[in-house]
This record gives sequence, structure tokens and C-alpha cells, in this order.
Amino acid sequence: MKTNEIRQKYLDFFQTKDHTLVPSDVLVPKWDKTVLFTPAGMNQFKDHFLGNVELEYTRATTSQKCLRTGDIENVGRTAYHHTFFEMLGNFSFGDYFKREAIHWAWEFLTDKKWLAINADQLTVSVYTDDDEAANIWHKEIGLPLSRIARLGEHDNFWPAGAPTDGPDGVCGPCSEIFFHPENGPECEIWNLVFTQFNREGDPPDNLVPLPNKNIDTGMGLERIAATMQGVTTNFHIDTLRPIVEAAAEVVGVAYVPDSENGRRLRRIADHVRACTMAIHENVYPGAQKEEYVIRRLLRRAVLQGHEMGLRDPFLAQIVPAVIEQMKQPYPELVPTGERIQQVITNEERGFFGSLDEGLARIESIFQKMKSENSTTVRGEDAAELYQTNGIPAELFAGIAEERKLKFDWSGYHDAMDRHAKISGNDSKGVMGDFGPIDEIKKEIKLTEFLGYQSTSAEGIIVGLVEEVSNADNEPTPVRKNELKPPKDSVQYVVLDQSPFYAESGGQVGDTGIIIGPSGSFEVTDTQKSGDVILHMGHVVMGTLVAGDPVEASVDEQRRDAIRRAHSATHVLHYALQQKLGDHAQQRGSKVSDDLFRFDFSNLIAVEADKLVAIEKMAIEKISSGGAVVAETVPLETAKKRGAMMLFGEKYPDPVRMISIGDFSKELCGGTHLSEIADVEAFEIISEESVTSGTRRIQALTGKRAVANQQQIIKSANTIANLLGTPIRGIPAATEQLLVQYKSLKKQLASGQKKGSAESEVTPSSIAATNMDSASVDKDLDYFQIRDLLKLSASCLNISLPQVEQRITAMVAEIAELRQQIAQMATVGEVNVQDLIASATWIGEIQVVVNQLENASPALMKNLVDQIRQKIAPVAVFFATSPAPDKVLLTAGFSRDLVERGLSAGDWIREVAPVVGGGGGGKPDLAQAGGKLPEKIDEALQAAIVFVERKLK
Ligand code: SER
Repeated sequence: MKTNEIRQKYLDFFQTKDHTLVPSDVLVPKWDKTVLFTPAGMNQFKDHFLGNVELEYTRATTSQKCLRTGDIENVGRTAYHHTFFEMLGNFSFGDYFKREAIHWAWEFLTDKKWLAINADQLTVSVYTDDDEAANIWHKEIGLPLSRIARLGEHDNFWPAGAPTDGPDGVCGPCSEIFFHPENGPECEIWNLVFTQFNREGDPPDNLVPLPNKNIDTGMGLERIAATMQGVTTNFHIDTLRPIVEAAAEVVGVAYVPDSENGRRLRRIADHVRACTMAIHENVYPGAQKEEYVIRRLLRRAVLQGHEMGLRDPFLAQIVPAVIEQMKQPYPELVPTGERIQQVITNEERGFFGSLDEGLARIESIFQKMKSENSTTVRGEDAAELYQTNGIPAELFAGIAEERKLKFDWSGYHDAMDRHAKISGNDSKGVMGDFGPIDEIKKEIKLTEFLGYQSTSAEGIIVGLVEEVSNADNEPTPVRKNELKPPKDSVQYVVLDQSPFYAESGGQVGDTGIIIGPSGSFEVTDTQKSGDVILHMGHVVMGTLVAGDPVEASVDEQRRDAIRRAHSATHVLHYALQQKLGDHAQQRGSKVSDDLFRFDFSNLIAVEADKLVAIEKMAIEKISSGGAVVAETVPLETAKKRGAMMLFGEKYPDPVRMISIGDFSKELCGGTHLSEIADVEAFEIISEESVTSGTRRIQALTGKRAVANQQQIIKSANTIANLLGTPIRGIPAATEQLLVQYKSLKKQLASGQKKGSAESEVTPSSIAATNMDSASVDKDLDYFQIRDLLKLSASCLNISLPQVEQRITAMVAEIAELRQQIAQMATVGEVNVQDLIASATWIGEIQVVVNQLENASPALMKNLVDQIRQKIAPVAVFFATSPAPDKVLLTAGFSRDLVERGLSAGDWIREVAPVVGGGGGGKPDLAQAGGKLPEKIDEALQAAIVFVERKLK
């Protein structure tokens, strides 16, 4: 029996038992912070088991995409370990219990109409003291006691070992069904979990019976397929063997199952399949959490190829075989195949580039360990190797294990923590914490959201929570009857209904105010827990009392700005798809008030002219107007009507669909405008990389966009004035400004004493355009002005918002440079060469001690620098008198003298008092003032004495 047929039969069978067919959850359930990947079929039903949501059905059946990496080292080695797999399951939420679960499992496995497995080849196990289950198997199904094993909590409890080791939460004994093939070892094929307890704390007496008893069963599809197909390993079933064979072909070796290469090929097949499924859902290889898991899997697969002699990317070539095998249940893989291949190739290429060096370093680490008689790889070495050569620690540990060496995991995690590069791990399917929020969730199930229709509404306070410090000084939420203005803790208000939008789908939570009969509460953020809306903030006046009626009002202006931004993200999404292609799908967003960022798939940076075209298209779509319509429709209808569906997103059914004009249809729960032209203004302000394969655009709408435009126009006028040019002339004037700036710097550095023609140029004559600004700029629109400034920015190699400041600074600096050059001209016949020629030798160093005519501090410093560039070791001391009662001194040593312990600061401190002044500075350069010009000669003498003394 083919795998696809088994899956179908299973789902059909349980539908005949009145189960609702529920689609697979996504592989990365973003709503569930306790897991990185969906580990089991029950994961999407956690809130159903806990009674935290209103139940639309009490029986469900699924085929769930799962990914587990707990036993990754066994993949390819054993017959049954996978990373990605599908799990068939049937679930009861307070509906049927052990009897039905056992009877139906037996019926499905043995009945001729279904799998027709020979009953004699099946045995079962139950939890040690689960007489109820044992009796059903024995008395009702008729299994002899010899075929019913009783096993402990590590075999027959889920999560395994939960009573003793935790985690806290919903759990229960289970009963497993085993298949005994004619030859070969038994194989567990189905796990029936009787979810009947809530674990609270450590034993004893920690298993509290649940009010509703539940069923959670899980049957690995690949395993049952192997059983039905009579093959000895999952990797040889109809949907996996072709992938293994494809891997063999790509690698260029024969697939010999019982060989080292056979194991490698199975590992490659498994990992490429898992990565294909995950990348399809937009989980790209990266440095953190689930992305890191995908990176690890890909790199492990690369390593397998490397061991078989490959040195170039090859994994992507196996993707078509994966899609071919998986496309029947997951047809959506077909259009994303090319993107998946690109992502894989990119990662492979990078890793191959550093792998040889990394492996060589591993060898030398092993050598060093040997010489030190150590058998444990140091965590610090592994962290270092990951950071420099990209070799994941798990891979290093695997190689170490092959050499029978140990690996210091805790040292590794410490080292990574120190580098603040924590990557996530798999976690058990922990269910529920049992704080006050969960208590409220159980009581009310949901807060009715009224915010699509209005921004203020009446409601009743159904729960109040305050975070108070516990004995360890950690904030702990506590349920309250009343809330008063807090000291500094966060408070939560839960209402039966509310117009406040809780942060979700990328849209930020609303802010506003809740007013009750005896107090008011400022809402600074709104979040969601399950279907319950949490208004977060603090009481600002009086008291809030549970049970009181209140008026809840959202900050309407902010909400309007959020609506503008949210509707604009849909327009941008449309424009991206039009201009870049279908692959440019949304990967995340953060929608705030008149400001949003939008992440999308694209392997390379969006070229500047494409970005302008995208922005232009979005602006056109906004300004030509169109109704924004929200409707709730069956998921199928939305699909048929062409709504954009994001991979890796699970949509409810029915679903809310937002249409804009006739061009955009997206499934979205956010709050939107009713007319797209009300976005008012739109502007893209940046485009950058987020992670490999993902780009981020930031954009402004409405008031923020208008304010930004005004700011840029103001800047343009300021710059035009500074440069003495119309706005149109800004790019040319910037270029000239830069040329002039560089040449003045050069002129000063070369020590030319005479001002050339250039130094006579004034800022206002930089752009010799002679244009009449008003008439020349009259037709410029905002975007043209921005483009002109962008040209100026790219000429200066800075970003647009920095242009005004930079040009202002350059103009000022040019004036200063010009002044210095002019002064240089008036320093008389002194130039750097002359100064050097005037040096006297004290020991082996040259000492330049001079009086300059009317030099500025900047010029003196510049002269010191020039002399130091030309000769060393050198000591330089200048004095000048810019006014009848003023003296300026500058002292400097070349670097080698500073290194020998001489300090210009000391030097000047000693000499300055001679001219009636004081001052100091750094070892290499110091300046000071004085007021007795007539003492300059004496001071210069003192300067020489200082050096002589120091060199004795
Ligand atoms: N949750 C159980 C398992 O994963 C049964 O579905 O084995």
C-alpha cells in the first residue's frame, strides 16, 4: 500500500468516526514559544486540550508535518529515525476516551476495509498501573495478557518521564501498539496518549486529574508505510527510496544500503527533504533558533557529500526528487522549488568555501588534544570553530564521536552565551503555564474584538492582573480584585469585549484609555494570549475594580496612522511581486503608526532603479484610489478568488480577506482603511538585508511621510543656499565642493605657502551656474528634489538624511582650510622645508624651534604634522603672537620620541609660564596660550633647555 493511500485512508477512517479533518499546522508555529518546530500532531491543539478556547469541534484528525532533531545522530543509521516526518493523529477534546481510542485504532489496523494487518503480528503496551487500558485490550479486543506489556513512565507516559521529571502541564499514560514482522525486530507503530492529568510540581501527588479527559494519538506515517510495504527501513518506502536513489545519482555513487555511503546517502536524503519543507515555509538557514537548525541540517548534509569526495554544491539537485515525492499531499511545493534550490545552493557554497579549512582545524585540535592526553573537545574551541569556519558544534561533536572523543557541551553553551549567540534547541511539547492569565483564559475563553467597527466601546472588567515582585525579586503576575496606580509594575486589564487591537500579524497593539466608574487606566500596549485580549499599562487615577463596567477608547489618531501603514503594506507587497516576481513574498512585518517595515524573500539587494519603480507603482496605486474591503469568506473561496497565501502561515477557516481596488487580495486580520487613497503619502526610506535571502524595506505613510518630505525639502533649500546654487544644481555643486575640499586639504598638506586661485573661491561661487533659483526649481516635485539630494549623498558616500549636516560641515571646514592657507601665505618666507633646514641637532635628534608670524593654532599643528611626516626623530616648538598681548605656543614630538617617554604636554607646561601662560596636552602634541610676546625668545630658549635636559 502506497504512503499516500495510507494517509488518505487514515483521515477517511476517522472522518467516518465523526472527526473533523483539520489541516496540518505549519512546521514553525510562531505562536508557540515553547517549540522551534512542530514536534507532534497534538501541538496545534494545546489550547484545545487546556480548555483555553471555545471548541468548534471535539474530535479532530490530522496528518501533521513534524520536525524533530533530538536524535539526529541516529538519522541514516537506524531504520526509523528522521528529522522531518508526517504524523497521523486523532484527537478528542473532552469527548471520547480510552475505550473508543483503543477500539478504533484496532479497527483501523486490522479491519479488511482499512489496513488489514494480521492481528497476530500486533502486541501492545500500557502504563504500569493503567488497568483500565489493559482491560479494554484484554477483555474487549481479546488480546491475551501475554501480548500486553506493562511499562513505566519512560516508555508509556507522554511526555516521556513526565511524572518524575516534568515538564509541568497536561500529560497522561499511553498505550503503544507494536508490529512484529516475520523477520526482524518489533516496531512501535502507534502511540495512544490518554491525556488525563495536569502535572503540577514534583512527585508525589503531582498528577491532578483534568476535568475533561482527552485523547492524543500519533502514528508516524513513514513507519506504518514501511510496515505495510514490508521494507526493513523507512528509507525504503515508496516516497523515500527515490530520494535516496536521487542522492546517490547526484553524488555519483551506487546506493548500497548496508555500507557507510548508504548511511550517508540516507542522511542526505532525510536532511534535504526536511530543509525543502522548511525553506518552502520561508525558514531559511541562519544563525538563530529554527533557522540555525536548518543551517545545521544543510551543513551536515554537505559534510556527508564532502566525505564522499564532493567539493562543490550538490544538495539543490536533489530537491526536485523531494518535490516529486511530496507534491501529492503538498502541491504548493511545486512553485517554490526554484527558490528552495537557490537558498540551498547559497548556503552550500558558503559552507564549502570554509569547510576544508574548518576540517583541518578540527584535525589540529584533535592532535593537540592527543598531545595533552585529553579526550574531551573544549567547548570554547567548538564555539570558535563555528564562528570562524561555520562548523556547527553538533557536527564537530559528531566527528568527535566517530573518533571516540567526548564533547564539552556545557562549555560550548557557556562560550556561545558569552558571544551572545544563543541558538535554540528542541524542546518537549510543554503545555501551558498556569498563571493568572491562563486562569482568566479558562474562565472567559475569548475577548470579543470590536475594533473592526469602532474605536471605543463599553465592556466589563473580567480580570485584573498585576506583576508583583516575588521573594527572588522577579516580577510575577498575580490576580487582583482591584488595581490602584502602581509603583513601577505592569498591570493588565481583561474585558469581556474590547475595541483594542492586540499585537498580531505584524501590526502593533493599540494604545488608549479605559475609564471605569472609579478610576482610569492608561493602555500603553495591547497583547494577546490565546483569544484573550490583554490591555497592558497602568492605573493613572482612582481604582479599577473587577466586575465594573468601563468605557474603552483607543487612541484614534494613532489607530488611523496604523491603518494607513497597514493598508500600504498590502500595496507594497503587490508592487514587489509585480516588479521583482512571485518569489518576493512577505516574510514578516512590523506595522506601526505611519511607519512600517516589510521583510520579503529576495536573494540580492533590490537595485536602486527597481526600488524607485516599486515606490512609484505603490504611489500610483494609492493615488488612483480604490475601496479597501474586508470580508470573511471560506478559505477555499479566498483561494479561488486569488487571495495571496503565504507559505508557512496557517489560516483559519473561514478567513478574513482584505481586497484593495481590483489589484490586491490578502488574508489578514489587521485594521485597514476603507479607501486606499487615504494613505495620503507614501515613501520608501530604506532597503537593506535582514538575513540571507531576506530583504527589508522601511516606509512611511500619512503624516510621517509628509513630515519627512517637508524636512527633505527644507534640507534641499538649506543646501542650495549654502552652495549658492538652485536645487537643481546641488549634485554638480556637491561634486565641485568635494573637489575643492580635497584640493584645499592637499594644498595645505603639501605646505604651499602661497594662496592659489583656488583658495580665493568662496562658497557662493562654487557652482558657477548663474541660475536663477526660483525659476529653475519651479517645476521640481518632491521626488525629483529627493533624487537630487540622493545624487549628492552618493557623491559623498553617505545616506540621504546625512547630506545637509555633511555639506554644512564641509563648507565650514573649507572656510577654515582657506583661512589656514591664507595664513600660511602670511607666515612669510617660512615653509616646511625652510623650517626643517633651520633645525638644530641635539644628540641624534633634530629640534625645530621657531617663532612664526601670526599663525593660527590649526596652522601650527598642521606644520608640526608635516615636519613629523618628513623627518624623525624630531622635536618641534613654535611660538607666535597673533596680537600685541597674546602668545600661542605649540609643541610636538615625533612618535619614536613619545615612545621613548617624552611628552609634549610636559614640555609646554614647563615653557608656557615664561610667556605668562599655562596649558598642556597629549604626549605627541600640546598647545598653550600666554600674554607676554616680549618673552618669546626667552621661551624658545627654555624649550631647547627642556630637550637638552631630557636627552642627557
Ligand atoms: N503526542 C504523542 C506523540 O508525539 C502522540 O501523538 O507520540
